[in-house]
Amino acid sequence: MCGIIGYTGDGSILERLLEGLSNLEYRGYDSAGVAVATDPLSVEKREGELSNLAITLAEDRGQNDTGAGADESPDADGFEPLEVAADATGFDGPAGIGHTRWSTHGPPTDANAHPHVAGDGTVAVVHNGIIENYRVLRDELTAAGVEFRSETDTEVVPHLIERERRDGAERETAFRRAIDRLEGSYAIAAVFAGCETIFGARRESPLVVGFGDGGTYLASDVPAFLERTNRVSYLDDGEFVACSPSSVTVTDAAGTEVEKPVETVDWDPDAAGKSGYDHYMRKEIAEQPRAIRDCLRGRVTELEGTVSLPELEGLETPSSVQFVACGTSYHAGLFGERLLRRRGIHAQTFVASEYDAAEVPIDDGTLVVGITQSGETADTMRALRGAGRAGATTLALTNVVASSAARECDRVLYIRAGPEISVAATKSFASQQVTLSLLANALADTTSRAHLRELRRLPEYVQSVLDDTGTREVAEALADADAYFFIGRGDNAPVALEGALKLKEISYEHAEGFPAGELKHGPLALVTPNTPVFAIVSGRSKTAETIGNVNEVRARGAPVVAVTDDPESVAPHTEYVLEIPETRPSVVPIVANVQLQLVAYWLANALDRPIDRPRNLAKSVTVL
Ligand code: F6R
Repeated sequence: MCGIIGYTGDGSILERLLEGLSNLEYRGYDSAGVAVATDPLSVEKREGELSNLAITLAEDRGQNDTGAGADESPDADGFEPLEVAADATGFDGPAGIGHTRWSTHGPPTDANAHPHVAGDGTVAVVHNGIIENYRVLRDELTAAGVEFRSETDTEVVPHLIERERRDGAERETAFRRAIDRLEGSYAIAAVFAGCETIFGARRESPLVVGFGDGGTYLASDVPAFLERTNRVSYLDDGEFVACSPSSVTVTDAAGTEVEKPVETVDWDPDAAGKSGYDHYMRKEIAEQPRAIRDCLRGRVTELEGTVSLPELEGLETPSSVQFVACGTSYHAGLFGERLLRRRGIHAQTFVASEYDAAEVPIDDGTLVVGITQSGETADTMRALRGAGRAGATTLALTNVVASSAARECDRVLYIRAGPEISVAATKSFASQQVTLSLLANALADTTSRAHLRELRRLPEYVQSVLDDTGTREVAEALADADAYFFIGRGDNAPVALEGALKLKEISYEHAEGFPAGELKHGPLALVTPNTPVFAIVSGRSKTAETIGNVNEVRARGAPVVAVTDDPESVAPHTEYVLEIPETRPSVVPIVANVQLQLVAYWLANALDRPIDRPRNLAKSVTVL
């Protein structure tokens, strides 16, 4: 998930671009760059946070500018790189585009930062999304003599455009023809040297036009320009746009002009980064259908019933798999180990801080998988390093490109959840579960077609849970309890643990999760009329036993909330029902977990907790 901004119109182009990028940094912060439509194009891009780019631009200005601004060197007192950079010499063309990156292909380096430029600097492109067929396009272009400067999927786009231009196509035609060659998801913006028009296209990644006084914006998200204008038009999939300072033309795939309504956004700038939600956690919960789609993109061929993970090419089926992880990622491991065992592969999950490679059987057929959203968790890194030294093959299953885990492991499989800002992990857990489902199918000799079909329908299932507004009511009704318990059986047992972790970390209320059958072996002593129990009761998986456990807690007076795909049979046994769509037992835990995330969120909200930044916790735990 990257951030895109484009601006054409009055005033400093660079100032608008840097302002937009600073507002979009929550969408990615691996690298940033800008291109302004001077002739030839003026381009600057830098690895790391936006301030690195601003400092470079400010230095450019310091070196080239002989006027008053020349004294403002980057180390002068009160130096504001963003402000000084906005006047960088040479960047005074009629339009420009900028990008803040969250890596999906290639590590965060200056070369991989966007914009990407073709040949002699005539066209620059920024992109958010994943181009699935980029390998084929790259091979084709390389065979035609194109030299690539980056490892990104995006760089094929400016080269395709440039080739069309050399064949005589007008700018807009060249842009459209290039976009027509792409498979996958994209929001793309392009500028040409000396031209005031910004061209854009979208498919499954957002793109929005902002109508300012004296200029037009094109961005991946409204916050990019909300300080300047709140009048917007959202592009739909398959549409193209040409933005000039005073006019905007939207066309469909066939080139027919489309009338777009102009809407007025009434978000305050603080809520805008959260897409209008009160918290990043809520926004990230809502992003799960998109995150799951991105995770699956290009990796499942439903018709042939196969999983394609080039990251695992040449890897023999392991003799055993060991997952090492912490917290939420550990719960994902517990889920993944069950999928592997069912496919005949021995698998075990370890809390990373308890893992000692000297104590577990490791041979050269052992695959040790570090599951870590951040890729930086110290406990997980230590476990992975120990496993590597002991002779295991190591695989990082992570969200962050070029993180320590990604760099140090033998192999890496990205979960593609996009940046997760809230301390509480939500969409990354869903993406981990989906990636583990793919991993299980890829490592085993046989894949389950039915499982893959349901994985592809998963975004719909999750969306239907998100659209159901009943969860808030249930959570608020139970916000005054002494403690909360979560139970589930089989594949749902790890989700019971995760439901409890989520609730305790953001609500500060006591919560515990158990495999449903374990309750009667001790924890039942804690159950009272003021300890609600959340039970995941999947209609097709061991319902009778779980209902038995539900009846045990009800006999002690505890109110029960069932998360179930079989409300008719389950409702008579419980006080509340949170419904989920019916699917395969191995997909139920991914959907059921979304209900529990919402329970945690609404309960913590009712208690007025600082949801995105719970006390004593950090997003990335880099101490042992
Ligand atoms: C809980 C949570 C933590 C992390 C844990 C591991 O919501 O976020 O439990 O899951 O600290 O972090 P990663 O996955 O980055 O290794």
